[in-house]
Amino acid sequence: MTQNISETCLGKVYLVGAGPGDPGLMTLKGKTLLEHADVVVYDALVSPPILDMIGDKAVKIDAGKRRGRHSKLQAETTQILIEKARQYPVVVRLKGGDPFVFGRGGEEMEDLVNAGVPVEVVPGITSGIAAPAYAGIPVTHRGYSSSVTFVTGHEAVGKYRPDINWTAIAQGSETIVIYMGVHNLNNIVTALQEGGLTSETPIALIRWGTRPEQEQLIGMLETIIEQVETANFEAPAIAIIGQVVELNSKLVGYGGVGE
Ligand SMILES: C[S@@+](CC[C@H](N)C(=O)[O-])C[C@H]1O[C@@H](n2cnc3c(N)ncnc32)[C@H](O)[C@@H]1O
Repeated sequence: MTQNISETCLGKVYLVGAGPGDPGLMTLKGKTLLEHADVVVYDALVSPPILDMIGDKAVKIDAGKRRGRHSKLQAETTQILIEKARQYPVVVRLKGGDPFVFGRGGEEMEDLVNAGVPVEVVPGITSGIAAPAYAGIPVTHRGYSSSVTFVTGHEAVGKYRPDINWTAIAQGSETIVIYMGVHNLNNIVTALQEGGLTSETPIALIRWGTRPEQEQLIGMLETIIEQVETANFEAPAIAIIGQVVELNSKLVGYGGVGE
């Protein structure tokens, strides 16, 4: 993005994290911005109760992404943000979870900065912490795990990053939290076992982590693929791998799954 519009720009873009679905997990700062926004450009994973927080006067634009078409839509979305910031004072870019955690928020912010558009980030609660928590799985615990790695399981579109070193992750982290891993789970499970994890290593898949329709699959690396097929388990889900998953049997039911 090379166009610089700072001299003609009327407004500011707020890059807001919508959290993981439960409206009670939306930040006060984010909610206030939604109530006062002139324009809200939102992603597919933002839950309906969060969209209900948007004030009546706001123009709502769905920028939902489909698998495999990210880059084109990304450029279009950035262009919309630039155009709307020319016309309106408060433009909210609303993204699921936290905008900077596997949400392309950093790239959008770079484009806006390059274009001279004033921009501010409002972090959100990421699904990689909240979905396990609502399923009774703390991502760290003094008796089980002192380290956690957050990693994408989504195969690179356009190779914007080098291949993930699953062996290093298997050997270097006690808890592994995988975003966008359902479609590629077979390869990931194989790679982690080749990297040193035993076939009995516990794994949990949590779908719609903080919504009433939350689904859980708890198993081991050697069983989970069959469980996914049997249950016809689908994305969006967070995968958690490591001994902390054992806490699910004791702590499940204490996460306040939202309205
Ligand atoms: C493009 S990433 C966006 C992550 C988001 N920025 C965050 O911080 O949670 C989308 C992936 O996040 C995970 N995810 C997002 N919302 C979720 C939810 N409510 N329950 C479970 N997983 C979720 C899934 O792995 C999904 O495929």
